[in-house]
Amino acid sequence: MAADWRIGYGEDAHRLIVGRPLLIGGVEIPGSPHGPEAVSDGDALLHALADALLSGFAQGDIGDLYPPDDPGSANLDSELLLRTVFEQIRRVHGTFTVHNIAATVILDRPELSPYREAIQERVATLAALEGSRLGITFKTSEGLAPDYIQVRTAVLMSRES
Ligand code: C5P
Ligand code: MG
Repeated sequence: MAADWRIGYGEDAHRLIVGRPLLIGGVEIPGSPHGPEAVSDGDALLHALADALLSGFAQGDIGDLYPPDDPGSANLDSELLLRTVFEQIRRVHGTFTVHNIAATVILDRPELSPYREAIQERVATLAALEGSRLGITFKTSEGLAPDYIQVRTAVLMSRES
């Protein structure tokens, strides 16, 4: 059997407002001055990763599974969303392997590097991946988008065909 290799790519952005918890890759960043304005929990890293997985298998995007104006999408737990995406891809394509994930989080504040390991561990667990196969980098926007979080994610996957 030949391996069918897939690259997936996903992005997400949310406006940041005072009084919302900042969740990144399933980890709540303590003491954040702001968090995402979103119908769901606004976890931009998990949303970008979910779209990356779907895009690699040409399965549309998370808006198809959870339309933003659908009441069922309100307060959506992004870890549940990610599990649903894995199930959806497996339903169509069978078992597949995630080989590595690369993610960049663009955020002016707070500083995220103290939480890199915690985020890596959580996302690796959610994606059934070894921690060393998940790279995550942090960048400021250099003041261009101080009230936004933006995430870009690439993922390498394969399935037997
Ligand atoms: O964007 P800039 O190159 O100035 O970021 C410098 C470093 O600061 C990054 O390489 C990253 O390690 C760290 N950083 C961070 N948390 C952020 C943004 C950047 O830890 N929110
Ligand atoms: Mg810089």
